Amino acid sequence: MPKVLDKHMPQFNDIVIFLKTLCYSRMTEMLLQSLAEPSVQFEELPEQVEVRVGEKAKLQCSFTSSLPVASCWIHNKQKVVNDSRIQVESSNQSTTLLIAEAHPNDAGSYTVVVRDRRGSAQHSIVLSVIDRPQPPASCPVISQLSSTSLVLSWSGPCYDGGSVVTGYVVEVKRVGPGKAEDWSELTGRCRSTSYRVRSGLEPQGEYHFRVRAYNTVGVSEPSQESDTIRMDTAGGEVEEPQSYVDITINTTNKVTDHYNVLEKLGVGKFGQVFRLTHKETGRVCAGKFYKARGSRDKAAARKEIELMNHLHHPKLVQCLGAYDSRSEIVMVMEYIAGGELFERIVDDNFEHTEPTSVRYMQQILEGIQYMHQQSIVHLDLKPENIVCVNSTGTLIKIIDFGLASSLDPNTPLKVMHGTPEFVAPEVIGFEPVGLATDMWSIGVICYILLSGESPFQGNSDDETLALVTAAKWERRLSCEKALAHPWMAAFVSADPRTTKSLSKEKMKKFLAKQKWKKTGKALLALKRMAHLSSKSDGSESPTSPGEDQTLTPETEHALKSLEEQLQSEPRFSQALKDITQPQGTTVRLICHIQGYPDPEVLWLHGEEPVEESSSRQIDYQDDGNCTLVLSDVQESDSGVYTCKATNSLGEALCSCKLKVGP
Ligand SMILES: *[C@@H]1O[C@H](CO)[C@@H](O)[C@H](O)[C@H]1NC(C)=O
Ligand SMILES: *[C@@H]1O[C@H](CO)[C@@H](O)[C@H](O)[C@H]1NC(C)=O
Ligand SMILES: *[C@@H]1O[C@H](CO)[C@@H](O)[C@H](O)[C@H]1NC(C)=O
Ligand SMILES: *[C@@H]1O[C@H](CO)[C@@H](O)[C@H](O)[C@H]1NC(C)=O
Ligand SMILES: *[C@@H]1O[C@H](CO)[C@@H](O)[C@H](O)[C@H]1NC(C)=O
Repeated sequence: MPKVLDKHMPQFNDIVIFLKTLCYSRMTEMLLQSLAEPSVQFEELPEQVEVRVGEKAKLQCSFTSSLPVASCWIHNKQKVVNDSRIQVESSNQSTTLLIAEAHPNDAGSYTVVVRDRRGSAQHSIVLSVIDRPQPPASCPVISQLSSTSLVLSWSGPCYDGGSVVTGYVVEVKRVGPGKAEDWSELTGRCRSTSYRVRSGLEPQGEYHFRVRAYNTVGVSEPSQESDTIRMDTAGGEVEEPQSYVDITINTTNKVTDHYNVLEKLGVGKFGQVFRLTHKETGRVCAGKFYKARGSRDKAAARKEIELMNHLHHPKLVQCLGAYDSRSEIVMVMEYIAGGELFERIVDDNFEHTEPTSVRYMQQILEGIQYMHQQSIVHLDLKPENIVCVNSTGTLIKIIDFGLASSLDPNTPLKVMHGTPEFVAPEVIGFEPVGLATDMWSIGVICYILLSGESPFQGNSDDETLALVTAAKWERRLSCEKALAHPWMAAFVSADPRTTKSLSKEKMKKFLAKQKWKKTGKALLALKRMAHLSSKSDGSESPTSPGEDQTLTPETEHALKSLEEQLQSEPRFSQALKDITQPQGTTVRLICHIQGYPDPEVLWLHGEEPVEESSSRQIDYQDDGNCTLVLSDVQESDSGVYTCKATNSLGEALCSCKLKVGP
C-alpha cells in the first residue's frame, strides 16, 4: 500500500468510495487494514538477560496476533539457527532462544523479528554472560612496613567478568630457610584495593603476598606474587615525613646505590615508575625513571625536579631525592598507598556525600592555591592525579607535576598537551595559558565528583575537543574565591553522616570507561560498554534495546524470509454445506479460507461465475470468512455452488448444493 495514504487525509473517504465502486470490496478492506495498527504486538518483553558462563541462557518473547506468526532471532548480523548448543523454538504466540552453555562470546544484542501477513515488529534483548573476574592487574605493593604489620595495595582486574568486583581475597605465604609453607588466606572479604595486615606476621619474617578478585560468579586466579617482604626488626616503625627537604640532584651516585628497585607501578609518556625501598631505612618510595635520551628531554626532567622544591605543601606529593647519571635521571618521591581517589569513592564501604566531596575539592584547591601563589600552573589536573593518602582516611594529595610550569609575566606560555576531557579551551586554541587553565580542570573534576558524568566527554577525542571549544563560559574563580565560595563554606562544618549519599553508579561507569581507554582489551571492553550504556538511558548506545523499528539489512532479509515461511496454498478450513431453503428467503453460503498470500476468491453457480448484484453479494473478510448471500431465492437459483480460492501457490475448490423448495 502506498504510504502516502492516511486516514486523516481530507480526501480519504473519497478514495474509499472510489475503490468500493471500482473494485472488489476486498480491496477496500485491505486498504483499511493496512492503515490500521500493526496486528502483531509484543507482550511482556525482557530488555536484558544476565547469565553466568556455562549456564543455560533463555531469551523469550511472547506476542499476540490473530494471524499465524513467523519469527526469528538475529545476532551478530546473522539469523540464529539450531546447533548443538543453541535451539530456537517458535510457536504462534512466542519464540524462545535457548543457549545450553553460555559462553562470553554469546554476549551481546539479540533482535527478535516477528511478522504476520499484515505487519512486523522487532525487539532487541541484551544478553550479558558474566564470568569470574580476571586476576588483579598488579601484584600487591607493600607500604607502612613495621615489625608486625604492613599495608598491601594493588590494582583491580582489567576485566571484571561483566559483573562488578565485590571484594578481594588476600593470601600470604611464609618463605625463607626451613619455611616451606603453603598459601593461606589472610582475609576473604576485603572490599577495597588495599588491606592492612595487623596480625600473624613476625618480626624479620619473610613473606610473599598475592590477591584474588571476586564477583557474584566466583573468585579469580591469583595475581602475581609480591617480592619477598622482610618484616622489620621489632620496634622499628617507619615514620611519615614531617619536614620538607630541598633536593639537590645527586650526580655522583646512582639510584641503585641507595635504593632497591622493585616492581613497576606505572608507565607514562615520560617513562616508568617503580616501587623503591631505601636500602638502609627500608622506607617505601616511588621512583620516576625518566625516558630522557636527548638533551631536551633531560632538561625537561631536571626542570620538573627543580620545580618540586617549590611544592612543599601537604596536598602535593613530595620529592625525596633525585639522581642524574649518564644513563638515567630518577626522581624519588613519597609513596602514596591509598590509590586513586575516584577508585576509592566507588568502594562500597566508603561514604560518598556532598560534604565529603567538598572536603576533597577543598584539598585540591589548597594544593593548587599553593602552586598558584608561586605562579606555577599544573596543566594536567585529572582524577587519576588525585590520590588518597591511605586506605581509610579522606586525605588526598595531588601527584604528577610532569606538565607543570612556571609562568613568566613577560612571556606568554602556550602548550599543546593535556587530556581532552579536562583541558581548557585556551589550550585547544593554542592561546596563552594561565592560572585559570587549572581552574577549568578543577571544575571538570568537581562536576564528575558530584555527578559521575564527564561533562565534555564525546565519542572520540576530536568530538570531546569540539565540545570543550563550543562551551560557553562566563568567568573562572581563583582558588581563593573558590575556597571562600558559599557552597564550600556551607559544608565545611557539616556532619557527613547526616547527609544523603551521592550515587556511585555513574562514577563506576566513568571509571570503567577510563579503564577501557587504558587497557587494550578492545573486544571485551566493547561488549561491556554496550552493557553499561544500555543500563543507563540507552540513547547513546548503538545496541539500545527496545522496539527499534529501523531496518538493518539483516532484519530486512529476515523479514523477507519470514514472509516466505508464512506462505501457504489455499485451503478450506470450513467447507460449504448443502442447504435447502424455501422460495423468497435469504440464503448464506459460508466457508472459511486460509492461505497466504491472500487468495483471490471466485464463486461459481454451476459453471458460471456469480456476478455481484443487489440480490447476490459476496463478503470476504480479512480473517478468511467468505460468504455468498443470495436474497429472495427462486427455484432457478438451485444447483451446485463452488467457491474457488487461488493464490500464487495453488488453488482450492469447495462446493455445496442449494435446493430452493416451493
Ligand atoms: C530447533 O530445535 C527446536 C527444539 O529442539 C525444534 O523445536 C525446532 O523445530 C528446531 N528448528 C529447526 C529449524 O530445526
Ligand atoms: C501457526 O498457526 C498456523 C495455522 O494454525 C500453523 O499452520 C503454523 O504451523 C503455526 N506456526 C507455528 C510456528 O506454530
Ligand atoms: C649523593 O648522595 C650521597 C649519599 O647520600 C652523598 O654522600 C653525596 O654527597 C651526594 N652528592 C650530591 C652531589 O648531592
Ligand atoms: C589514615 O590517615 C589518617 C590521618 O593521618 C589516620 O588517622 C588513619 O589512622 C590512617 N589510617 C591508616 C589505615 O593508616
Ligand atoms: C468468521 O466465522 C466464524 C465462524 O463462522 C465466526 O465465529 C467469526 O465471528 C467470523 N468472523 C467475522 C469477522 O465475522
